[in-house]
Amino acid sequence: MARRFLLLFLVLSVTLVLLLDSSSAQMPGFVSLDCGGKENFTDELGLNWAPDDYLIYGETTDISIANETRKQYTTVRHFPADSRKYCYKLNVMRRTRYLIRATFLYGNFDNNNVYPKFDISFGATHWSTIEISDATTIEVRELIFLASSPTIDVCLSNATTGQPFISTLELRQFNGSVYLTPFEEHFYLSVSARINFGADSEAPVRYPDDPFDRIWESDSLKKANYLVDVAAGTMKVSTKLPIDVNRDEMPPEKVMQTAVVGTNGSLTYRLNLDGFPGFGWAFTYFAEIEDLKPDESRKFRLVLPDQPEVSKPVVNIQENAHGKNRVYEPGYTNLSLPFVLSFRFGKTSDSSRGPLLNAMEINKYLERNDGSLDGVIANVIVLYSSDDWAQEGGDPCLPVPWSWLQCNSDPRPSITEIHLSSKNLTGNIPSDLTKLSKLVELWLDGNSLTGSMPDFSGCPDLKIIHLENNQLTGELPSSLVNLPNLRELHLQSNMLSGTVPSGLLDKNLVLNYTGNVDLHERRRRVRHLNIIIGSSVGAAVLLIATIVSCLFLRKGKNRHYDQDQIRDSLSVQRPVSSLNDAPAEAAHCFTLSDIEAATKMFEKKIGSGGFGVVYYGKLKDGKEIAVKVLTSNSYQGKREFSNEVILLSRIHHRNLVQFLGYCQEEGRSMLVYEFMHNGTLKEHLYGALTRGQSINWIKRLEIAEDAGKGIEYLHTGCVPAIIHRDLKSSNILLDKHMRAKVSDFGLSKLAVDGASHVSSIVRGTVGYLDPEYYISQQLTDKSDVYSFGVILLELISGQEAISNENFGVNCRNIVQWAKMHIESGDIQGIIDPLLRDEYDIQSMWKIAEKALMCVQPHGHMRPSISDVLKDIQDAILIERETAMAREGNSDDMSRNSIHSSLNMGSLDLGATENYLSLDDTIARPTAR
Ligand SMILES: *[C@@H]1O[C@H](CO)[C@@H](O)[C@H](O)[C@H]1NC(C)=O
Ligand SMILES: *[C@@H]1O[C@H](CO)[C@@H](O)[C@H](O)[C@H]1NC(C)=O
Ligand SMILES: *[C@@H]1O[C@H](CO)[C@@H](O)[C@H](O)[C@H]1NC(C)=O
Ligand SMILES: *[C@@H]1O[C@H](CO)[C@@H](O)[C@H](O)[C@H]1NC(C)=O
Ligand SMILES: *[C@@H]1O[C@H](CO)[C@@H](O)[C@H](O)[C@H]1NC(C)=O
Ligand SMILES: *[C@@H]1O[C@H](CO)[C@@H](O)[C@H](O)[C@H]1NC(C)=O
Repeated sequence: MARRFLLLFLVLSVTLVLLLDSSSAQMPGFVSLDCGGKENFTDELGLNWAPDDYLIYGETTDISIANETRKQYTTVRHFPADSRKYCYKLNVMRRTRYLIRATFLYGNFDNNNVYPKFDISFGATHWSTIEISDATTIEVRELIFLASSPTIDVCLSNATTGQPFISTLELRQFNGSVYLTPFEEHFYLSVSARINFGADSEAPVRYPDDPFDRIWESDSLKKANYLVDVAAGTMKVSTKLPIDVNRDEMPPEKVMQTAVVGTNGSLTYRLNLDGFPGFGWAFTYFAEIEDLKPDESRKFRLVLPDQPEVSKPVVNIQENAHGKNRVYEPGYTNLSLPFVLSFRFGKTSDSSRGPLLNAMEINKYLERNDGSLDGVIANVIVLYSSDDWAQEGGDPCLPVPWSWLQCNSDPRPSITEIHLSSKNLTGNIPSDLTKLSKLVELWLDGNSLTGSMPDFSGCPDLKIIHLENNQLTGELPSSLVNLPNLRELHLQSNMLSGTVPSGLLDKNLVLNYTGNVDLHERRRRVRHLNIIIGSSVGAAVLLIATIVSCLFLRKGKNRHYDQDQIRDSLSVQRPVSSLNDAPAEAAHCFTLSDIEAATKMFEKKIGSGGFGVVYYGKLKDGKEIAVKVLTSNSYQGKREFSNEVILLSRIHHRNLVQFLGYCQEEGRSMLVYEFMHNGTLKEHLYGALTRGQSINWIKRLEIAEDAGKGIEYLHTGCVPAIIHRDLKSSNILLDKHMRAKVSDFGLSKLAVDGASHVSSIVRGTVGYLDPEYYISQQLTDKSDVYSFGVILLELISGQEAISNENFGVNCRNIVQWAKMHIESGDIQGIIDPLLRDEYDIQSMWKIAEKALMCVQPHGHMRPSISDVLKDIQDAILIERETAMAREGNSDDMSRNSIHSSLNMGSLDLGATENYLSLDDTIARPTAR
């Protein structure tokens, strides 16, 4: 028992050591952190200061300001000006009210003379923006709060200029019901003004005169924004007699012993209220400290401009306070106040003395932000509490997320990504991670995690899971199959066992589980083979033939095989484990004779490009294919071809032309794709397929959406990302249903993990080629965005990217031409006449503006493809709504006429369109 007590004591003393040290000499619940300080000390007020040297972030610097001798103002702690937040965590007692004070004395600590500007937050709540305007003035922020959890966090973030820094952080505990408000569960009080009237010096009153160490500013302090317009006849009065202050907010006696009196019948003041306009807590403190004769009275009213109801109550201090030298504290718990507050106390006509005022206090309500939803993450970080990454403090997502996670932008954010690769994590995968219901990416690779994989059913959005290079054991949970969005599952180099759930293999998934010796794929494709034999002998023969020829290719001279080898080659893990392996393991290998049969000896040519000719073919099972015969110099060697094939075989997306296999025989390399019935977008826009009637605007938007999704997948769904490098309208193919797919990854290269990639040869097509890439040879995904912008311009205009005639003199380029028109507001000048009037001008503008952003000269100025996709989808919605309105009102002549004039007009008529939709909402007051 005693030992357990000792243990408890030790735990407590470890956590509270900095916070409650030497509480004997001062009030309990006082914490005074000397930020950047080096030692404990007691100041002249008797407050015990402790250094913040337990903080693992930030640097400390000494400063020196003339006339500022207080030790806590000779140092600062400052933090990098980055996108992170830097937090202090303090222990508090729940259900207790506190004052927290942060102060900032810049003192040119960085020898930079740039006045810093940054934000301070209290937990998840934005507290204030600290904007230094003078190197020698101390900025002070105070907040009164009811503690609802055992710790609080104060964080600095969002450096707009200079580095965030802090001089002191002070926590003061209140007693009983001091500062109780009806709103304290949802609002903090941000201190705006706390004024001691009639003060006998400019020095503020604070500890030990105020047991809670509030700072009561002197009304005689000459502060630019403070207390002007003082009425004539205002006099100071004071007393040495004790004042009974033990009620309400317990103002310090010293403050109550002084006051001002309006000897002419009025007290007037004007002051600036920091943080207002807004709703505030405003109280006045009165104590009768003058001797009134029995026949004398002091009665007065408060007068606020525009607030007549405030002026109704009459103050009679002695009567209200039940005697002399006692506090009376009237005020408003919720009052709307302006930034510049002018107020007046005026005596009533039957009062013999003028008004008296000892003190006043105004606090602004600051709405509390309840913070992110995923509180369970706290259970994860306590497991690793000694690791730096687990000590970042504050809310996981607000005001900015911890450096190792990402959050969505909901009002109450949820965690979407966890990046804890190579952090030396041990033990099981924390089960609380599986409670993060919005989790999309989980990176725990390169740790020493043990135990089995948890059930991730609680995270239905999970798309990417990295658990490779750990020591995980046990079987794969079958629930993995039910994650609808799973795209990548990296499990290699663990000690997992059992079989891979067959449902996983059927998914469109990057799955790697090599290096798990006891983990196997069920040999299910052999069964598959049997089924095929049962159903179609012809196809099976073809399949076997291919397998055999692929094995021959693989084995080289060793031209024999046995049944086991076939089975091995059928049950290999996928995707293939190394780029050095023969491509046969991942991609289907066609023999030359298959291809020759399918294409009838390359009879029907359906296209050609810089790297090969494309032929139509039909397999024996009836499947139509497109065979790309690569020109012999397309690939430097077999190795490069293999890489390409492996890459292709890994890419699966509804909006990417499906890769079916390859053939490499007799020095010829061929790639086999699904056949797309409706040809290229190019042909539909201005090629042979238009015949004077083209695809309409909404169809064009849908094609753009399809293509955008395909590109988005290349950029964000593949790891590492893939840059297409040769996007153009002839590489966007249309299927039977006119859905678009992006084709031709012949030039695609693996992009190195987000970083730009230097390649030796600039490749691409004139008219679509990113000028920045052309000059710098730095290839990024933004080069694709440029090309996509050109395609959008083609969709709007029906013009080719490059033309010698169509763009007028001195202009051969669609970008230059469209830019000129769009920027001068003349969108009509570029819209394809074949679209007639069947489009909504708003959706047209949306796409035109986005297209221009895509073709900005510099990559960093261009949006991401996902961004572009969003606008395309918005445009589609606009277009569908307009189409519905058009149909729904087809009998309404007046609307039709508005609409047709709209389509002929330009910008001004966009406003008419707004009017129209407004009209619609009036007619149908539905949910919005
Ligand atoms: C300050 O005082 C506390 C307890 O009184 C002690 O644990 C700590 O080491 C001291 N810090 C320094 C820097 O002296
Ligand atoms: C600093 O102190 C000196 C002498 O103590 C005084 O003359 C001067 O006015 C003070 N300056 C400020 C800014 O307080
Ligand atoms: C950062 O501060 C700037 C200027 O004070 C402000 O405009 C911006 O919204 C802030 N950003 C965040 C994330 O709070
Ligand atoms: C706080 O309250 C306790 C009990 O009511 C009282 O003994 C103590 O003096 C109070 N402290 C202050 C500073 O008023
Ligand atoms: C992981 O642990 C090893 C050895 O204990 C250490 O050298 C390495 O710095 C640690 N890495 C991290 C990221 O903490
Ligand atoms: C699978 O993981 C292994 C081991 O890390 C790696 O060598 C191989 O390249 C990976 N395979 C794929 C297709 O990413």
